[in-house]
Amino acid sequence: MKDIIVAGNWKMNTSQDEAVMLVREIIQNLRKGVNQGPLLLNCTVVVCPPFTAIHRVIHELQETPIAVGAQNCHHDNHGAFTGEVSAPMLQDLGCSYVILGHSERRRDAQESNSLIAKKAEAAIANALTPILCVGEHLHQREKGETNVVLASQIDEFVSASGKPTLAACVIAYEPVWAIGTGKAATPEQAQETHHSLRQHCLAKYGFSPVILYGGSVSENNAHDLFTQPDICGALVGGASLQAASFCSIINAANSIV
Ligand code: PGA
Repeated sequence: MKDIIVAGNWKMNTSQDEAVMLVREIIQNLRKGVNQGPLLLNCTVVVCPPFTAIHRVIHELQETPIAVGAQNCHHDNHGAFTGEVSAPMLQDLGCSYVILGHSERRRDAQESNSLIAKKAEAAIANALTPILCVGEHLHQREKGETNVVLASQIDEFVSASGKPTLAACVIAYEPVWAIGTGKAATPEQAQETHHSLRQHCLAKYGFSPVILYGGSVSENNAHDLFTQPDICGALVGGASLQAASFCSIINAANSIV
């Protein structure tokens, strides 16, 4: 039995009111047929709203098993870092996860593996589980470099922060070419890559990580992805912004465990 994690990355979407409406719809949808008693899930569900909506989303989810994460944090705890949000601030809000090293931040904020590793250290020190994103570009896949690219992202991370930091992360394999494109990796492609990444961590660092797949996950491919032996769940972007599609993905996970 595997503990599947379904995490929603809302990116830079939703006002506070829209965020509250979305979580209410998610709860309502998951409760279908069970109106009394606590909401029970067979998998771990996380939603990652923008910073501005976290407080209200956490309030809405108080009586549910759904966890809340942020989409980034700073590597320092406090100080003169205009515009930044720290891990202690996220812990104070009630977050339990934080997405780190998303390809959009690697691209737009030039985040390096060593910076991401420092952020992960800060997150872990403040009781947050990092969802560490790695992934290759299309030209790298086409040249057959996928496994080498992922191994070097992981190795640079470990060089900067050590093995225990990596071991405390949930890894999200997100091929850059599959994010927001509607062109997901096939379950077989994703399985092959997850297997290689797992073998790399086992051989070099002696542990088997939790690895989620991300990149155009939808209600149509979730079940086939989740039944692959090395896929432990999904990081979902676009489809997490609609309660119906996000809940279908959660139900796909619930039906497997
Ligand atoms: P997508 O995004 O599901 O919209 O492809 C995934 C992500 O960026 O985490």
